[in-house]
Amino acid sequence: MRRSLVIGNWKMNGTLASAQLLAKGIIAGLGSADADIAVCVPYIYLPAINELVKDTALGLGSQNIADKASGAYTGEISASMLKEFNTQYALVGHSERRSYYGDTNASVAARYVQAQEQGIIPVLCVGETLEQREQDQTFAVINEQLDAVINLAGIGSLSKAVIAYEPVWAIGTGKTATDEQAQEVHQYIRQYIAAKDQAIADKVQILYGGSAKPDNAKGLFAQPDIDGGLIGGASLEAESFLKIFQSVK
Ligand code: 13P
Repeated sequence: MRRSLVIGNWKMNGTLASAQLLAKGIIAGLGSADADIAVCVPYIYLPAINELVKDTALGLGSQNIADKASGAYTGEISASMLKEFNTQYALVGHSERRSYYGDTNASVAARYVQAQEQGIIPVLCVGETLEQREQDQTFAVINEQLDAVINLAGIGSLSKAVIAYEPVWAIGTGKTATDEQAQEVHQYIRQYIAAKDQAIADKVQILYGGSAKPDNAKGLFAQPDIDGGLIGGASLEAESFLKIFQSVK
C-alpha cells in the first residue's frame, strides 16, 4: 500500500509574515493523519519556514532546483544550498517553469539528478496542454517527459522520487480533470513504468494537480492510482489545504 502525500505549492505568493502564518496554521491543524504533507515555498522563505516546520510532521520543499551542482550560474539555487535548510522535496518541471522559463525535458532531468544527489526527493511534474490533449498527444507528451528522466537517471531512481500529473489546462483554471480523466492518465503512467519495472511502479507515488479543492479532492484521491495531490491555490489557506489533506485515503 502506497502512503498518501499532499504537497502545497505556494508559487510566488504572499509575504514573509503571511507565509509564517500559513505554515503555523497548517501545523496547528495537522492532527495525526497516516499520510505525508509538505509545502513548497518560495526559496527566500525556506530558512524562516524551516524554523517553523522543524520537529513537526509538515515537510518542506522548494519549487525548483538548479540543474548544476555549483559554479558560475548567477541567480540559481543549488541542491546543496537547499539541503542546508532541510528541504526534503523539490518540484522539477512544473508546467509554469516549462512554459514561462524555458525548462526543457533535458534540464528537468538534470534538476532531478541534482536533487537526488543531495537526498532531496524530486517531484517530477508532467502533463499535457489543452491543445496536446485535443490532438490525442497526452500519452506521447508524458512518455517524453518521463523518458528524459528515466534515460538519464535510470528507472530505479523513481524509488526516490514522486511524480505529479498536472494537466496544464487544469492548473489555476478552476477546470479540474474528472476523477476518470485523472485516473486514466495516472494508470497510464503507472503501466508505462511497470513495463520497465513492476516493483517501482507499485511503489511510486503519483499525485494529481490542477484545481484540486476541498470539494473534489475526495473523489480524486479515491482513484486507485492517485496517491495524493499537488495543490496550488487551495494550499494558500490553511483550512482548505488541511481539508484536502484530510481527504486522502
Ligand atoms: P492550482 O491548484 O492552483 O490549479 O495549481 C496546481 C499547481 O500548479 C500545483 O503545482
